[in-house]
Amino acid sequence: MNNIYMPKPYKILEIQQVTNMEWLFKVEFDRADEINYGQFIQISIPKVGEAPISVTEFNPEEGWIEFLIRKIGKVTDVLFDLKAGDTLFLRGPYGNGFPFDEKYKEKHLVIVAGGSGCGPVRSMINAVHKKFKSVKKMELILGFKDTNCIIFKDEISSWQKENNLVLTVDKMCEGDTCDLEINEGLVTQHVDKLDLSDIENLEVVIVGPPMMMKFAALEFEKHGVPEDKIWLSFERKMSCAVGKCGHCKIDETYVCLEGPVFNYTKGKKLLD
Ligand SMILES: Cc1cc2nc3c(=O)[nH]c(=O)nc-3n(C[C@H](O)[C@H](O)[C@H](O)COP(=O)(O)OP(=O)(O)OC[C@H]3O[C@@H](n4cnc5c(N)ncnc54)[C@H](O)[C@@H]3O)c2cc1C
Ligand code: FES
Repeated sequence: MNNIYMPKPYKILEIQQVTNMEWLFKVEFDRADEINYGQFIQISIPKVGEAPISVTEFNPEEGWIEFLIRKIGKVTDVLFDLKAGDTLFLRGPYGNGFPFDEKYKEKHLVIVAGGSGCGPVRSMINAVHKKFKSVKKMELILGFKDTNCIIFKDEISSWQKENNLVLTVDKMCEGDTCDLEINEGLVTQHVDKLDLSDIENLEVVIVGPPMMMKFAALEFEKHGVPEDKIWLSFERKMSCAVGKCGHCKIDETYVCLEGPVFNYTKGKKLLD
């Protein structure tokens, strides 16, 4: 019988330091053709534990997957001691992911991401940017604490050339230099820079820390965007990831099964 908890070993192909706290892991993966944007994988280290990590990019033809990982605790500490050629144990993909084909295709897609919240949306942005997926228009607001925290700089530079992309840092540090066009202030302060004229065709994706998602969603509501056009992605403590243990439950909702992506009509009730 198939054991749904059984992870499979995969080789780390490449590790890249992105910031002091976040590294990019490229790992071989034979199920990349099953992945939807915004889904996650359970990464495990034998005798240490398991952690859910979003797929930040994937390539079914070449058979790899990428994770942007923050060093934060038990599992991620050990991950940061590994090197290319070492083995990771993976199971998944899990979760629903973003409903691109059902909801965003040929629409005006606005994506607002804060910090490592750029991880779960990166593959979707790249798919639109590289014209694998088609939208009417894509606009982005990407927010970071300071210029040292900006991730995916090369990709942001390329996205910024073809899309209205507002890159913003909470605070500009003295002596900061960066080749990118940068603004100052929270993501919510830049919503006015978006074209929100055709709300009928608009879909807004917001990913970041809970407070950022809450206030960004409220800001879009203030601009007349209905709740059902706003989408959030949640990070929750998980264990089984398959709806059995209840670790991820908020009230009656299993985030691992019904999420991590929620429409704001439901998501607003899940935000603390
Ligand atoms: C759907 C989903 C997608 C995720 N995607 C990513 C991803 O792409 N990259 C990534 O790095 N992480 C991601 N996470 C978060 C990651 O799973 C947790 O940070 C996980 O706890 C790390 O495991 P650990 O054993 O290293 O830390 P633990 O030992 O479990 O945690 C150590 C300590 O850190 C605290 N902690 C755990 N997570 C956080 C947090 N997010 N912020 C602040 N404190 C925290 C815990 O409460 C605990 O006190 C995701 C989580 C979910 C549910
Ligand atoms: S993580 Fe076990 S039920 Fe969701």
